[in-house]
Amino acid sequence: MLWTRDALTIATGGTASGDWQGAAGISIDTRTLHPGDLFVALKDVRDGHDFVGAALETGAGAALVSRVPEGLSANAPLLRVDDPLSALESLGLAARERAGQARIVAVTGSAGKTSVKDALSALLSAQRSTHASAKSYNNHWGVPLTLARMPAATRYGIFEIGMNHAGEIAPLTRMVRPHVAVITNVLPAHLGNFDSEAGIAAAKAEIMEGVVPGGHVVLNRDNPWFDLLATRAASLDLTVVSFGEAADASVRLLGLSQRAETASVEADILDEPVLYKLNAPGRHQVLNSLAVLAAAKLAGADLARCVLALGQWKPGDGRGARRRIRLDPIDPRSAFLLLDESYNANPASVAAALETLALAEPAPTLTGRKGRRIAVLGDMLELGKDADRLHAQLAEAPHMASVDVVFVCGPHGKTLYDTLPKTKRGAWTPDSAALAPLVKAEMRAGDVVMVKGSLGSAMARVVAALDALSASRKKR
Ligand SMILES: Nc1ncnc2c1ncn2[C@@H]1O[C@H](COP(=O)(O)OP(=O)(O)OP(=O)(O)O)[C@@H](O)[C@H]1O
Ligand SMILES: [Mg+2]
Repeated sequence: MLWTRDALTIATGGTASGDWQGAAGISIDTRTLHPGDLFVALKDVRDGHDFVGAALETGAGAALVSRVPEGLSANAPLLRVDDPLSALESLGLAARERAGQARIVAVTGSAGKTSVKDALSALLSAQRSTHASAKSYNNHWGVPLTLARMPAATRYGIFEIGMNHAGEIAPLTRMVRPHVAVITNVLPAHLGNFDSEAGIAAAKAEIMEGVVPGGHVVLNRDNPWFDLLATRAASLDLTVVSFGEAADASVRLLGLSQRAETASVEADILDEPVLYKLNAPGRHQVLNSLAVLAAAKLAGADLARCVLALGQWKPGDGRGARRRIRLDPIDPRSAFLLLDESYNANPASVAAALETLALAEPAPTLTGRKGRRIAVLGDMLELGKDADRLHAQLAEAPHMASVDVVFVCGPHGKTLYDTLPKTKRGAWTPDSAALAPLVKAEMRAGDVVMVKGSLGSAMARVVAALDALSASRKKR
């Protein structure tokens, strides 16, 4: 039992009715609800109260509501509060309070939050009971939900914290009260909501406001905003641990050899020399891994075991996951390599993904023709007035030179497409739905294809179309 009925009532100040004992988990979505969960009726795109009946039928133990939804019986298992979101926040605070043995890490940054959170969670859960945010649950409901789901006996809690506007991170980090805060980087992402990149840096710095006294902040030494962030940390009496390639970084990359599938990393982690293999060759993932090891060590984990576990870790779908897809199910030489970077994009992460593509070696084919490097790029969103210029600039990205064919979709992407030399142009379409079949038809044995774009550009559609290429052949 995650929460007893009494604990829930006390934490939320709500009024319980009906016959129920407590909650095995917390759910906000009937599609992912587990039996025994407390269903929280949040108001987002739709009003969660419309789903309370369905939640109870699916097996929810009770529902946290502000009113009795129509059609429910008088003795339905409910916990009534004024506002379910603030009740969820109160529950989150109670969870943080009772998890007295937990060491808490909070992760923010323009790119790499989920990658760092997932890797940390994989490493730490091999050592002690670990609780981490699901998916990218990093906003005003995602963070209190993750807190409310944290078991009392948790030893490591890993929280992703994100933002679209200034002022959003501060209240979330004050709930989480991390011992270690990580800022992966500050990049011109979500620039649309800010006057300047300095504004983004200041908004990321808010994560420090919740760090417990004597806590640590892990900062990217190579990022242009390091000094500003370090000054802020000093003003809050927090200890800065820097990571990067710079000579004075306290967690420092000493050597890197990148191959198509893996990277071999030599680093110094707070005066401990380490060597490890990473199943994610991109330089950005290598730098993320330094932040991961720094945070793990600061949280009190055994570094040697973390390094071993890191060798087993693989990036998730859309974040550098890679797979070979055979065009002919029985012939391994018919395969092309898919680099799935589809989850999200900004100028820096596209540049990083192009480098990863450049590193991948297309295979020779049966006809002796070499495979090609193909980039499939959707719009990078929320870049504000510079959007078209930032898209066009990708044509000049250092590693674009080694890409053979570029497929592009989206209104901003059109400026990139028109800037590319004609020999590199695959096709441009208004959206990913129209692009997917064109990319699918283009694939040949030996090719390497990298797919990337902002979440809103739905580039996962292209990935699904490419995956279906192997599935549809298999069925024949
Ligand atoms: N340090 C980094 N620098 C640049 N790009 C990165 C970095 N880390 C990850 N990426 C790339 O950015 C994309 C998003 O990664 P990830 O999901 O880890 O970031 P996130 O910060 O959690 O994003 P979101 O804000 O959407 O939750 C992926 O394609 C990933 O490969
Ligand atoms: Mg994320």
